[in-house]
Amino acid sequence: MACTDSLHPQVGVIFATVSAVPVEHVDELQAYAQAVSGCTRCRLAQGRTQVVFGAGNPHADLMFVGEAPGFHEDKQGLPFVGQAGKLLEKLLAQIGLARSDVYIANVLKCRPPGNRDPQPDEIEACESHLFRQIELIEPTVVATLGNFATKLLSGRPLGITKVHGQEQETTLGGRKVLLFPLYHPAAALYTPTMLKILESDFARLPELLGRSVEPIVEAQPELTLVGSRPPAEQLGLF
Ligand code: URA
Repeated sequence: MACTDSLHPQVGVIFATVSAVPVEHVDELQAYAQAVSGCTRCRLAQGRTQVVFGAGNPHADLMFVGEAPGFHEDKQGLPFVGQAGKLLEKLLAQIGLARSDVYIANVLKCRPPGNRDPQPDEIEACESHLFRQIELIEPTVVATLGNFATKLLSGRPLGITKVHGQEQETTLGGRKVLLFPLYHPAAALYTPTMLKILESDFARLPELLGRSVEPIVEAQPELTLVGSRPPAEQLGLF
């Protein structure tokens, strides 16, 4: 259930941007960030200035997942603070949102040397940090920016060119979410056609945030009288 709403200037509807995440989750997220700040699970620990855990609203309904920190992110300890981040902020403003309304994280929490691509063993070492973040933030929409985040969170090898703009329901952090693959803003910075597509995909976010995703129904303890239990399909178990 939403506790704050934003007025969307383009479509003129009110939609939720934050949800009532339990207060313990916010504390846990902070404690987790503290724990991850000393992570040495992979080689990237040696070259980083600091871990870039993620930033934004811990109650956000909308979470973005990028690839990895770059030079500026590594220095400042915050995700998407360079040119790609400026574009992300501009795109958010076009749908009536600010950075403070959303949560932003990356697949990798440490900068790969020379901004090279993440390597499979680095992604594997780091992925549980991202899954724990998703579990604690409880977003309803997870927008993946580019190939690495999309492939990791969809669990499928399809590239971003094929799947951008196509939302899919999936389970992340034990809850159903809408996964929404987008082109990476860094790629769109220098390719006008890609930027146009990114803008039009982005414009669908308010509608996706307004959709409710069926929660996962937990099996109830055995208090139900025999004969009074509804069929399994009605419980959404299968
Ligand atoms: N900055 C980030 O934090 N992540 C990216 O993927 C690109 C730039």
